[in-house]
Amino acid sequence: MHVSRIALDQFRRYNNLKLDVPETGLRIVGNNASGKTSLLEVLLLLATTKSPRVSIERELIRWESGEEFGLAPYARITAHVVTSHGEHDLELRLEATGASGLTARKTCIVDGKNVRASTMVGILKVVEFSPEDVQLVSGPPSDRRRQLDILISQIDRHYMQSSSRYGKVLAQRNSLLRAFSKEGVSFRSANAIEQLRFWDEELVQHGARIVMARSNVVKALGEHMRTWSGALMSIHTIDAVYSPGIPRIEHVLARDHSERDVLPAIQERFSRELEAARADDMRRGTTTIGPQRDDMGFRIDHRSLAAYGSRGQQRLGVIALKLSEADVIEHLTGEKPVLLLDDALSELDQSHASLLLQSVGVSDRQLLLTSALEGVLDRAELAHLETIHLDPE
Ligand SMILES: Nc1ncnc2c1ncn2[C@@H]1O[C@H](COP(=O)(O)OP(=O)(O)OP(=O)(O)O)[C@@H](O)[C@H]1O
Ligand SMILES: [Mg+2]
Repeated sequence: MHVSRIALDQFRRYNNLKLDVPETGLRIVGNNASGKTSLLEVLLLLATTKSPRVSIERELIRWESGEEFGLAPYARITAHVVTSHGEHDLELRLEATGASGLTARKTCIVDGKNVRASTMVGILKVVEFSPEDVQLVSGPPSDRRRQLDILISQIDRHYMQSSSRYGKVLAQRNSLLRAFSKEGVSFRSANAIEQLRFWDEELVQHGARIVMARSNVVKALGEHMRTWSGALMSIHTIDAVYSPGIPRIEHVLARDHSERDVLPAIQERFSRELEAARADDMRRGTTTIGPQRDDMGFRIDHRSLAAYGSRGQQRLGVIALKLSEADVIEHLTGEKPVLLLDDALSELDQSHASLLLQSVGVSDRQLLLTSALEGVLDRAELAHLETIHLDPE
């Protein structure tokens, strides 16, 4: 698939921008703060309806937006996407709301029709690689979970719904547990157990879907990473393993069964473990087990990459991960994702940069690269790509 047009209105520092994108991709060159990352962020937003960079969506709206005409501040981003099943116009609108104007209402529009976020997610498929990604190896588990969520929501239409339902039910259950903990309610209280059970059923139902999807995807990622790391570093093997936040569930996931059999088995195990953890949960005032505690561990020759890998090896691990993400998307959906390399080459030495570009080059995927320095993108592997220059502020 490829993006053929991008248009922005009041997004980040942009007042207005219209951009035609060639099928092969683009080199985007501009000084620091000229809006390169924001431009790639647009495609991530349209692909997933969320930005990995912000938790407060209001930040995406241009500061001066609406001032001129006395309107509520808004932002609008659109892209025309060509997939193997047809072409689509994707649009996302943000409007500042609330008395303080500090929150934003989000509207997703596909081919001119308002749709739910879950309908828009995954029509455009992207894989982003930025220098900060190196921290994925040794950073907090929440970063790795977010990375997985971005990937899976582009592959599995129902994943985002399960994940947002799960988040809501978990918040309810946690506030109940907090109240119990504060009031010192006994973990044997029949009334308290009854109230918790009310949430547990839904928690288990949606949680099991998340666990199954993550387990499958990490398995596939691990396989592709082994192949890529072989190509990137010959003697060492890097891969990824899923580390579920539910105790004693590994053997359920290890079984090679169809989805129909595994899902009920995960639900049953999750349900039992919730019961086993109940006293602890009530004392601590929070849900101590579940996919909110999941992690994905990277390994080098079966040892922790975070603990034993050199910085260069960790970097290669992340390159292998990103190339594998693209492979997994392509394998499971039949679409070649658009690759977004944000300032990625400046972090790599010459030979690693070449390896990355060669690996990317053979795959025939649309490629958008950014750099503050034109020279960095001035390479034989990229000679087929047009270059655009962003104006400084
Ligand atoms: N909501 C907003 N309204 C106006 N300007 C914004 C908003 N959000 C971010 N900016 C500004 O937009 C500018 C561009 O940011 P961006 O990260 O896209 O630049 P960049 O070209 O990637 O820079 P670098 O080379 O440093 O990575 C920054 O100066 C930032 O302060
Ligand atoms: Mg940037």
